[in-house]
Amino acid sequence: MSNQEMHSGIVSPQGIWWQPAGKQERVWVRVAFIWCMVLFAMMPLWHLKGGQNPTGIRSKVDPAAFVARTDRFVSDYKVGEENGMPVVAPPPGSDVYLLGRQWQWYPQILKLKKGAQYTLHLSSADVNHGFSLYPINVNIQVVPGYDYGLRVTPNQSGDFRVICNEFCGIGHHIMVGKVVVED
Ligand code: CUA
Repeated sequence: MSNQEMHSGIVSPQGIWWQPAGKQERVWVRVAFIWCMVLFAMMPLWHLKGGQNPTGIRSKVDPAAFVARTDRFVSDYKVGEENGMPVVAPPPGSDVYLLGRQWQWYPQILKLKKGAQYTLHLSSADVNHGFSLYPINVNIQVVPGYDYGLRVTPNQSGDFRVICNEFCGIGHHIMVGKVVVED
C-alpha cells in the first residue's frame, strides 16, 4: 500500500485501533468524563454562588421591531448630543434599549443612575455582535432576532466603554459606545 492510499480516508489506517483500549487509556477517559461532569455542575453553581452566568429575559424579536423600539426609546429619553450622537438618560426602573449594528452601538451614549435598576435590552439589527462592558468585564452575545433582557443595577459611578467583542466585519474595531453612571 502506498503512502498516498493510507492517507486517503477511504483506506483503513494500519494499526490496532480496533483492539480494546489499554488500561491507562480507560483510566484517562474516566478522568476526563468526571472532569466534564464537574465543570457541567459548576455552570449553575457559578450562577447561584458566583454572580456569573446571569439569567435574562429572552424573547424573539423581529430586528426591524427592535430598531423601532430603540428609536422610540432614544426620542423619549434623549437629553442632548455629543459629536452629533444622542445622549440618552432613561429614568430609573425603565427599559433600556441598546442596539448593535454594523458598526455602532445605538444609542452610543447612555446615562444611568447609580443604584437604580434598569432592564437592559440587547439585540442586533444585522449580524452577531458582542456586548463587552469595559473595564468591568461583562460579556453578552448580541444576536439578531433575539431580545436579551438583563436586569442591571449599576453599583459604581464613572465612565464605562461598550466595545464589540464579536468580529462583525470591516468596522468591528470602531464599534465603541459609552455608559456614564452618575451618583
Ligand atoms: Cu460588532 Cu464587532
